[in-house]
Amino acid sequence: MEFKELVNKRRSIRAYLDEKVNKEDIEKIMECVMQAPSWKNSQTGRYYVALSDEAKKEVLESLPEFNQNNSRNASYIIATYKTGLSGANSSEADLWGAYDLGLQNAYLVLEACELNYDTLIMGLRDTKKLREYFNIPEDEVILPVIAIGKRAKNHTVRNSKKIEEVLVIK
Ligand SMILES: Cc1cc2nc3c(=O)[nH]c(=O)nc-3n(C[C@H](O)[C@H](O)[C@H](O)COP(=O)(O)O)c2cc1C
Repeated sequence: MEFKELVNKRRSIRAYLDEKVNKEDIEKIMECVMQAPSWKNSQTGRYYVALSDEAKKEVLESLPEFNQNNSRNASYIIATYKTGLSGANSSEADLWGAYDLGLQNAYLVLEACELNYDTLIMGLRDTKKLREYFNIPEDEVILPVIAIGKRAKNHTVRNSKKIEEVLVIK
């Protein structure tokens, strides 16, 4: 798919069919994620994926009710980054780690779209529950849970800001 077409096709989807996501497709998505730029190529993103019914249920239960309803039937990718490895000084390290994870996650949702999956990035989740279930080390910051699956319903119309509202060129 042309890049611009892909960018316009990717939208947050909030209703999923009861269909499995292939492990092989997750691996293809990860190959693409690993091409994202990062501070000194530190690649601090880490991923925990729930494909089994048991793991999906655990992740579902870490979400608030509206995110549960929006992502039921989907599989889940939990994205984290390792702290203390990027940034010029310790006060900025976590910022750049988060920045790099965001870049990787952009690649992730676009490659998922390319492979005909839909996604929903969710910032509201119970990180303590996720950390326990996946045994996520304390030096990793847990950021989004990303639902991935096949859409059961289309997205609603999205309002995008006008370019003049966000751009200054001198
Ligand atoms: C960091 C982040 C956190 C988000 N958290 C949620 C969430 O908890 N629940 C939800 O339904 N959507 C969530 N979204 C999705 C946004 O609402 C969505 O990306 C935005 O409205 C733009 O729509 P689009 O993705 O369809 O282009 C989140 C998106 C981002 C990037």
